[in-house]
Amino acid sequence: MARVVVSARLPDPTAAQRLRAAGHEVLLRDDPRPAAPEELLRLTAGREGLLAMPVDRIDARLLDARPELRFVANFGVGHDNVDVDAATARGVLVTNTPGVLSEAVADHCVALVLAAARRVVEGDRLTRAGGWTGFSTDLLLGIDLSGATVGLVGLGRIGTAVARRLVLGFGMRGLYAGRSARPQLEAELGLRRAELHELLARSDVVTLHLPLTEQTRGLIGARELAAMREGAVLVNVARGPIVDEPALLEALRDGRIRAGLDVFDHEPLPPGHPLLALETAVLTPHIASAGRRSRAAMAALAVHNLLEMLAGRRPPNLVNPEAWTTPA
Ligand code: DGY
Repeated sequence: MARVVVSARLPDPTAAQRLRAAGHEVLLRDDPRPAAPEELLRLTAGREGLLAMPVDRIDARLLDARPELRFVANFGVGHDNVDVDAATARGVLVTNTPGVLSEAVADHCVALVLAAARRVVEGDRLTRAGGWTGFSTDLLLGIDLSGATVGLVGLGRIGTAVARRLVLGFGMRGLYAGRSARPQLEAELGLRRAELHELLARSDVVTLHLPLTEQTRGLIGARELAAMREGAVLVNVARGPIVDEPALLEALRDGRIRAGLDVFDHEPLPPGHPLLALETAVLTPHIASAGRRSRAAMAALAVHNLLEMLAGRRPPNLVNPEAWTTPA
């Protein structure tokens, strides 16, 4: 029997019940929103296992304060909230939930592409505000997706799911930038691999599908935004800091590009944040994976990973295999 904590209410209550059914003593924080850092510190006292939200900061400070914490099961595929090196150095195992949310995130990415390219939110605001004075030949002109080019930065599970939707469903042409060539997908979807700057210069829509790491932080900066086509759309469903936010604000203020953003440097966006005033951006509150089925599957997978670690078995989604040592 181990003592574990689930740091926020899971979308499927049966998932956490499985931890109890396995005989563990479980502290369930009954709030769907994340805990503040000091509360997280309190919650983890005396706990061997933590089922963490992707915004819970698990750093050297927390790990040093809680040497009893051995297992962190992250609810989410992104794990930039965990200092994985610090965890590895302390022998703490970390898992994530890849795969089960790819289709939901891809759906949301396409929703943002459509909203920004066809100016859906601007149209809604104009209509409600009484600013629609009748049919007009040049009202809210946008991008015709069919025949336009999408540039996918990152072609992992989520990038591939987005490519399938936009290429097969909407008749877009596809470029991708990625660490490795994907010849099968190139053949299946007619994609072409390109360097980032070529991709930016040739795409009408650019979508981001990368983890946040020291290499990807600020990857899309002022130079990259300037390389984008006039009137192009940038969609970020990955992590905010992959895009240099001040540079993005400049590009959006100029109206050179439009954006669909689900993730930000600081979440939630503070009141008065300059993005809130820009018509050229469509904003959603980090909900790309928020399909009911996907969120339940994320909960089930996070619980499964935690149960496997607690049982001394190697979990299926271990982020830091270096920390794994076969139990004696
Ligand atoms: C993830 O999985 O990393 C998402 O951002 C949270 O759903």
